[in-house]
Amino acid sequence: MAWIPLDRNKPAFPKDAPPILTEAVREKIRFFFSRYATRRAVLLPALHVVQDALGHVSMQAMTEIAELLEIHPSEVMDTVSFYTHFWTHPKGKKVIVACRSISCEALGGQKVIDAVKQHLHVREHGTTADGTYSFMTEECLAGCDHAPCLLIGERMHKQVKPEDVPKLLADAGNDRIAAPRSDLFDAPAAKGGASNGRPGGGSSAETVGATSDIREMREA
Ligand code: FES
Repeated sequence: MAWIPLDRNKPAFPKDAPPILTEAVREKIRFFFSRYATRRAVLLPALHVVQDALGHVSMQAMTEIAELLEIHPSEVMDTVSFYTHFWTHPKGKKVIVACRSISCEALGGQKVIDAVKQHLHVREHGTTADGTYSFMTEECLAGCDHAPCLLIGERMHKQVKPEDVPKLLADAGNDRIAAPRSDLFDAPAAKGGASNGRPGGGSSAETVGATSDIREMREA
């Protein structure tokens, strides 16, 4: 997530801290070793596994990933700080990503962003007091023809209006899509139950804007 400020005079985590990566998480990472020519190439899958398991990738987790992949911790941090997908501090259960690029901006995206911030009382990269939502903006979410777009978890909400926001946020299934699952990444649907027969649960997609599902993505 962009720049990571560090106080070089303080250790990033206690040297005697117990390992943060469980054996199960390490085993998931090792699973990828045979799929790639080098351990270094496993870095991105490893980061996904760790973030899915822990919710974010802490400095200690970066160090342990580096040991596992036999690379320097700074290389892990380089990658973590390059991709906005990875969080270095705890985030809410669901991450809302609002598009800030031109098509969404031209069609009222800023008003949608303002509505989300006001409704949740959060700033960018902030998390609600109850830990449910974290909020951030991002460049184009690849839904320009349905702007303005909001991505909640894995679910894209299209043509969102500011007045849609309260209903959208109140929907328990607003972050799920129906999709084949792999147990490699502990996908959300594997942890939570469905509420309407779809693996992702959810109900407001039909009533608030338009929402993509796996069939729609395949046909695109
Ligand atoms: S500009 Fe918003 S999705 Fe592309």
